[in-house]
Amino acid sequence: MKNLIILGAQWGDEGKGKVVDLFSDKFDIVARYQGGHNAGHTVYIGERKFVLKLIPSGILRPGVRAVIGNGVVIDPGALIDEITMLEAAGIDVTRQLAISNRAQIIFPFHRMVEKVSEARKGRIAIGTTSRGIGPCYEDKIGRRGMRVADLLDATIFESIYPALAEDKTTLARAFEVHEEVDFARVREQYLVYAERIRPMVCDTASMLNRAIAGGQRVLFEGAQGTMLDIDHGTYPFVTSSSATAGGACTGTGVPPTKIQGVIGVSKAYITRVGGGPFPSEVFGEDGDRIRKAGNEFGSVTGRPRRCGWFDVPLLRYTSRINGFDSLIITKLDVLDGLPEIPVLTGYRVQGELTDDMPATVTGLEAIEPVYERLPGWTGNTRGLKDHALLPPQAKDYLAFLAERVGVEVGCISTGPERNETIVLPGSRLASLL
Ligand code: GDP
Ligand code: IMO
Ligand code: MG
Repeated sequence: MKNLIILGAQWGDEGKGKVVDLFSDKFDIVARYQGGHNAGHTVYIGERKFVLKLIPSGILRPGVRAVIGNGVVIDPGALIDEITMLEAAGIDVTRQLAISNRAQIIFPFHRMVEKVSEARKGRIAIGTTSRGIGPCYEDKIGRRGMRVADLLDATIFESIYPALAEDKTTLARAFEVHEEVDFARVREQYLVYAERIRPMVCDTASMLNRAIAGGQRVLFEGAQGTMLDIDHGTYPFVTSSSATAGGACTGTGVPPTKIQGVIGVSKAYITRVGGGPFPSEVFGEDGDRIRKAGNEFGSVTGRPRRCGWFDVPLLRYTSRINGFDSLIITKLDVLDGLPEIPVLTGYRVQGELTDDMPATVTGLEAIEPVYERLPGWTGNTRGLKDHALLPPQAKDYLAFLAERVGVEVGCISTGPERNETIVLPGSRLASLL
């Protein structure tokens, strides 16, 4: 039985939600392993649009179980809003969803601390999603955080909460952030949240390992993307979790020996939201054209996404870190009608071509991008479901990316809908699905 990880190969928003939803009918369980409601995974089912933030996209398939793993940070208010939205759409969330008792809890004061951090003089603003993600992971690693199991036990909650809350007030005061947080009210509210989620909470690591031992299949859904990974991304312009393949093991408690494949999702070009280096960024009218054609506005914050051309060295790097078996290239249709398509094929650093990713922001900013230009196509690829119908230049473009990255393209997405997808028969991806 093959268990797979599907994750972002760029800076997030690659279309993970769409492909995870599409493939989840072949799995028994879909599990999230990191991040929180900073993610926004968009799924279209006919006229209906869902933006999933904390709950894995598999929830939209009746009969598929969805797991929020221990590596995730949970804002219970946001989770309950999402559950309510899905229940209104007729989904039996209580039956389908399992929440790890070891996941960390986000409190409103984590958002307050994030403001302190983002606005502080002399500190680089990351351009975060302002959801309290970073400060919650800080408390986790600092070994003072509150986990779901603690939230559900009133005595443990009382032993952790006062110190956690007090630290944040002291910090905010020191940095002159005056924000009203009614700590007593938050405490009451969180004890109400606890009862709402209690029926779904369990030891998900134990549940997943038992399911795998019983022959069930698990799909691991990454959030964010490899270049936003806390260790391997463009630090400090990253998120605070392990978005790479390794995170699937630590974030769920499923060992690497039980996972058979890793699939990278990449756009046919590239985008990023927030600050940080971006070697193939396109400015001006060309950038606006991609943004408009790809509707590149954040699904969580609505911010315009920065747009750029496909970056081969970046994909080679993220393939190496994750060990991709196959690539899914999304949003090919967005490139329709371009007379030619630039592709960043080399990084020149201090005059030398390199296959390494510089570790510092200054190093990344010093990259001189080397471009090659490929012929575009005049035909329309939007909604195509058959590889044979792609314009020859589009086929050549995809073959070029696969050859240069050194990983097959096993699937092509030509529109936001489930069925606007081509899985290549005979590909490694097809054999893993
Ligand atoms: P995720 O965070 O990786 O799940 O991606 P997002 O949902 O944040 O952003 C991807 C956006 O592209 C969503 O609005 C999708 O509906 C849309 N999308 C996904 N695949 C395609 C595609 O092949 N073509 C087009 N035009 N849109 C797509
Ligand atoms: P999905 O799962 C794109 C970015 C933010 C910011 C940085 C840190 O939809 O692909 P954070 O709030 O996480 O501390 O912000 O990471 N970011 C994302 N960008 N897609 C996402 O998720 C993102 N989640 C966080 O814009 O630059
Ligand atoms: Mg997204």
